[in-house]
Amino acid sequence: MATLNIVLLPGDGVGPEVCHSAVRVLERIASRYQHDLEIEEQLIGYVAWEAAGSPLPEATLTACLNADAALLGAVGDPRANELTPLDRPEGGLLALRKALGAYANLRPAKVDPSLVSSSALKPELASSVDFVIVRELTGGIYYGESGVVEGGAAAFDTMKYSVAEIERLARVGFDVARTRRSAVTSIDKANVLEVSRLWRSTVESVAVDYPDVTVNHMFVDRAAMELVLAPSQFDVILTGNMFGDILSDEAAAVCGTLGVLGSACIGGEVGLYEPVHGSAPDIAGKDLANPIGVLVSTSMMLRHSFGLHTEADAIDRAISQVLADGLRTADTASPGESSLGTRAFTDAIVEALS
Ligand code: IPM
Ligand code: MG
Repeated sequence: MATLNIVLLPGDGVGPEVCHSAVRVLERIASRYQHDLEIEEQLIGYVAWEAAGSPLPEATLTACLNADAALLGAVGDPRANELTPLDRPEGGLLALRKALGAYANLRPAKVDPSLVSSSALKPELASSVDFVIVRELTGGIYYGESGVVEGGAAAFDTMKYSVAEIERLARVGFDVARTRRSAVTSIDKANVLEVSRLWRSTVESVAVDYPDVTVNHMFVDRAAMELVLAPSQFDVILTGNMFGDILSDEAAAVCGTLGVLGSACIGGEVGLYEPVHGSAPDIAGKDLANPIGVLVSTSMMLRHSFGLHTEADAIDRAISQVLADGLRTADTASPGESSLGTRAFTDAIVEALS
């Protein structure tokens, strides 16, 4: 029996709906495996800015720092477009990742056998997809010096990485590779960028400590192409913040929908878990969101923050089983096929956990 102290951050758009699914699944897991579930809900994103004047209120940050793990729905709202970078909902999430020291973002991409036909790829390629993106999350161009200059006639962002930042991320990547097929592809733009040349040489120096893991370097433009042409060559993709952001949406297309991908932001004492999808304001509040992304994130949370592998496996199996039973949310249903709303799909998962 474990006590699971979790801060729930529903956030914006579809965030609250998918978080509600996660809570129902966590309650089911807690009762079935006799854990004590302590969930504290806090504000983040646009809703936090509206209610408390900041996209990451002090109370939210304090609660997260005192919890075992934090589970996020989504941030982002079209009404925030006029706000300054620090007031924007995304600014709240970036500040939270930084404050938690969550420098490594694990984003697994695998196509469930039942969803092969939802992928943008030919079935034989789609079923070969099985990689994890290990993305640097608290540095690079997202956090570099930036500004609007020349009275608004120009603007700049800076990409900077230190050897220490690259090294610690590379170690996570190599460690993850050891639990899989022991192959790292490090992705950069070393034919153009100085920071990428440092990235490449630093990854090489870390690789010396992992003689059992193969390492291969690829330029990011080439990688974007290879991901759809021959995805089975990738096991662990190790990359910086912005390249990882872009490639993870491509990974979503390869998997059929952004709705099924989950992620873990780790490295600090408190892990942060978030679906890869955004707040999807167009479908918010309509019971249309796919809860699989948040449930995969929940499973990753049980695994990484609590070491509860049996429970995590149970969630993964329940998702697969419900899909194998032919149940779909709108984003993964074939044209003409019927689909379930977020709640009914969650009911089926909770049922599969019984
Ligand atoms: C993601 C998102 C975020 C990012 C945004 C919301 C700040 O796109 O998690 O991939 O760019 O990291
Ligand atoms: Mg993104």
